[in-house]
Amino acid sequence: MDRWHTIIEPFRIHAVEPIRLTTEAERERALADAGWNLFGLHADDVLIDLLTDSGTGAMSRDQWAAIQHGDESYAGSPSWYAFLAAVQELFPFRHVIPTHQGRAAERILFSAIGGPGRVVPNNTHFDTTRANVEASGAEAVDLVIPEGLRPEAIHPFKGDMDVVALERLLAERGPDVPVVMVTVTNNSGGGQPVSLANLRAVRGVCDRFGTPLFLDACRFAENAWLIREREPGQAGRAVPDIVREMASLADGMTMSAKKDGLANIGGWLALNDDALAERCRNLLILTEGFPTYGGLAGRDLEAIAQGLREVVGEDYLRYRIRSTGYLGEALVAAGIPCVRPFGGHAVYLDARALLPHIPPLEYPGQSLAVELYRAGGIRGCEIGTVMFGLRPDGSERPAAMDLVRLAVPRRTYTQSHIDYVVEVARDVAARRTGLRGYRIAGGPTALRHFTARFEPLA
Ligand code: F0G
Repeated sequence: MDRWHTIIEPFRIHAVEPIRLTTEAERERALADAGWNLFGLHADDVLIDLLTDSGTGAMSRDQWAAIQHGDESYAGSPSWYAFLAAVQELFPFRHVIPTHQGRAAERILFSAIGGPGRVVPNNTHFDTTRANVEASGAEAVDLVIPEGLRPEAIHPFKGDMDVVALERLLAERGPDVPVVMVTVTNNSGGGQPVSLANLRAVRGVCDRFGTPLFLDACRFAENAWLIREREPGQAGRAVPDIVREMASLADGMTMSAKKDGLANIGGWLALNDDALAERCRNLLILTEGFPTYGGLAGRDLEAIAQGLREVVGEDYLRYRIRSTGYLGEALVAAGIPCVRPFGGHAVYLDARALLPHIPPLEYPGQSLAVELYRAGGIRGCEIGTVMFGLRPDGSERPAAMDLVRLAVPRRTYTQSHIDYVVEVARDVAARRTGLRGYRIAGGPTALRHFTARFEPLA
């Protein structure tokens, strides 16, 4: 094994999905029809879809087989018990509440404990997490370490929370803080991991103030693998053990099974607090379903249970993290500034650094993302001023960074697909000075990046 350097995809392909090749002229038209918003494209006009790693991965033979075991009983399905056992094997929380995806777990949690006057700290809130906190009337505060906001800063755990800032917040507003959240890996901050040492320190602060700690655990396995690779004393440790230690430091979690559940849909909320769990279950029944299926089919619960067994596999994780790094290293070698070190699920291009002639309020990330699609049919996602620049009072300001995320779906693309992405990105970077900014021609005030229409500036 150790003799060979090439880290191969640890699977053979068993069913294929055709990719429709398009011309630049066709993509030009598709962009105008979509108002230059890549969320508005027909997905069959996309060659390589790196919009998200969420729900877009390939399921294994064993997951498809597990689907045949799906039992669709309304209450007490065996599929529910298979799901519960698989979740608690890694996250031994007392209560597990299934939901149709991660944001449903967030909505339930923050409906129960958020509200006006409350404040929720996180290393960095993901967009739906922030939106759910704010929809409850509470305030969402990001407290990632300073290195986490500097794309070029090298630090092994750029997702770590700023423990001093957290302590200050709790000292000032402790009674208003219903929960401290830590997102593993820190998606909006570049897919960067959080160390066990940091989780222990955050736990210590939470204990001093009597505040519960919840994980936003979407990419827990990738985080655990990066702990194994980067944190002193963790090399060689079994991944499930690291995951259980992460869980042991928290009082609960929200989860999207569309990421490290290796499933196309699903999620859950898990916690130890009996009274809070009862309130959450009552909210669940209102909109998601009975507590043994929570908006999912029995077959989905089976697919997730099997996915959770596969996602902590070492061959899988070694390949997963290595293939993301392969993309990142090739982009940097092509002269494209990226958030470093590379995280687990995605490479983040630093559009603000690549396109210094486009001011943040003309959306350099949007400009780069659109050009990657126009040139090569590659769909990425702006994570910057379009996504985060609009404040609740309607004013706009530059986001902390203007990034384009190229998220890698799990087990879906091969190395030649990735080599093509690098070739297109290199071409776009060579023409960088010709790229122009955008203005927003219309759209909503919350989560505007999904549906806003843009216009290219002259
Ligand atoms: N938390 C994090 C850190 C996420 O990345 C996501 C989703 C969610 C919560 C919400 O989960 O989609 O199942 O409702 N992230 C996707 C992405 C959409 O593209 O990064 P969901």
